[in-house]
This record gives sequence, structure tokens and C-alpha cells, in this order.
Amino acid sequence: MMHPAPTELLDLARTVALTAGALAHRRRTEGVEIAASKSSPEDIVTAADREVELLIRGLLADARPNDGFYGEESDASAHTSGLTWVVDPIDGTVNYLYGIPFYAVSIAVVQGDPDPASWNTLAGAVVNPALREVFTASKGSGAWLGDQRLHVNHDVPLSLALAGTGFSYEAARRVWQAKVVGGLIGQVRDIRRIGSAALDLCSVACGRLDVYFERGLNPWDHAAGALIAREAGARVGALHADAEGRDLLIAADPALYDQFSPVLAALFECFPPDDGPR
Ligand code: IPD
Repeated sequence: MMHPAPTELLDLARTVALTAGALAHRRRTEGVEIAASKSSPEDIVTAADREVELLIRGLLADARPNDGFYGEESDASAHTSGLTWVVDPIDGTVNYLYGIPFYAVSIAVVQGDPDPASWNTLAGAVVNPALREVFTASKGSGAWLGDQRLHVNHDVPLSLALAGTGFSYEAARRVWQAKVVGGLIGQVRDIRRIGSAALDLCSVACGRLDVYFERGLNPWDHAAGALIAREAGARVGALHADAEGRDLLIAADPALYDQFSPVLAALFECFPPDDGPR
């Protein structure tokens, strides 16, 4: 089926993400309420996560009724158009809970099944309402922060690379992740844990991080951010493939990626990942 150009889909993603970001920000100023916990007591969902996802879902369904929907807080629906919207209403929920201004609405539209191993991401928008930052990309048209074109940092040797990562909500997995970070920290400039995978990927795109990696991400955490990083010149993938996924996502300038991935592979050998919940 014919679908609109990626730039047209991006206009919709951006508009909806801005509206959703304004709602998330308003609810944050009114006070945040935990609605439930999910995979572990640390893995929370706020009333705002659900309300914002409902708003996004409604706006997208009005504009594109035949597209599928795959979001963090509600049931998926299948497409009849070939396109699916992959949505995290608030990425960085714990930051949101604590009032740390690093949370974001993340909206991507993908062609094909909503599976990062095979999907083709056409457009993505990541809005941080607390800092009024709007990151966007559409396939083939570059990545942007507002009207500023983004480029990843080039020519950074691993020893001078600022690396970002994230940790699981599951305690045993966090302990394993900390061992890997412990092995890495002496080989890079320093490590950051920002608390939002979507913003980590945008940070690589705009040069606030040199490399980002995480094991255990969900598709909605990285769908939009991975396109933004790629369109800014990053290579995004895993150890042996260019398809990121739950097992691993790495994003960096291609030359740094080539230095970083063998180091990470060696650390995974030293500290084999368990296969428990992430
Ligand atoms: C989380 C954030 C965090 C990452 C976790 C994600 P959520 O998403 O992106 O930075 O380390 O892996 O689950 O729960 O805030 O939407």
C-alpha cells in the first residue's frame, strides 16, 4: 500500500508529540501519582503515562485510522496500511516521578511488523517538554534539534569517549550491568546514566554523548531515538548485526563503534549476561 512521504509522517509525529509533551508537563506540575508497578516494584507506571498514551493513540487514530499502534502502556493494534506507530508516552518515567527534567515523549512510525529486527523506521520525534527540546528525523532527511541539523561527534578515540548507558528495573540484572560498567569505566572518558533511552540516543545524535549502549530495551524506548541517531550519522546496532534489539543496542559514530564493540564483547565474555528478566 502507498504511504505518505516520511516527511509528512514526521509532521504528524512532531505535532502529536508536542501536544502529548504539553500534557505530560502540565501533569508533572500538578504532581505525579504512581498508578501501578509492572515488571518489578521499581518499574512504575504513572497516571500520566496512561493518560498521555491515550491522547497520542486517539490523535494518531483520527489522523491515520488504518495504521497499527504499539505503545508501552496499552494493547497493540494491527495495521492494514503497512505502518505502525511505536510510542513511549513518557520515556524516563522515574525521572518524571522525581522531577528530574530528563523525560520525553517518543513517537516513531515504522513500516513492516513492529519488530526492531526487521522494521523500517520512517520518521521519529522525541520531545523533552521540561527543556523544550524537540528532536526529529525522517528517513533520508537528517536529524534535527528544532531547526538545527545534528551530527554525531567524529574522531573520538575510545579512551576519550563519554559513554551513556542504562540499567534494568530488575535488581539482579542491574548488578550484572554494573559489572560491565565497572569493566568499561577505566577504558573511556566517563559514564553517564541519564535515565531515558530516547534522550540517550538523541544525545549521541547531538554530540552530548559519544556512545550509548544498553541491554534490555523495549522497542518503544529506542524506535524514534535510533532513527534520530542514525540520521545524525551514527551506526546503531548490536555486536554482530546492524539491527538493535532487546539483547543489545549500541549507537556511536561508525569509527568509535568499531573500537567500542570488541571491548563490550570482551566484557560480555568476562561477565556472561544471564537470561533472566530484564
Ligand atoms: C526506561 C528508560 C531508561 C532505560 C530503561 C527503560 P521507561 O524506560 O529508557 O533510561 O535504562 O531500560 O526501560 O520505563 O522510563 O519508559
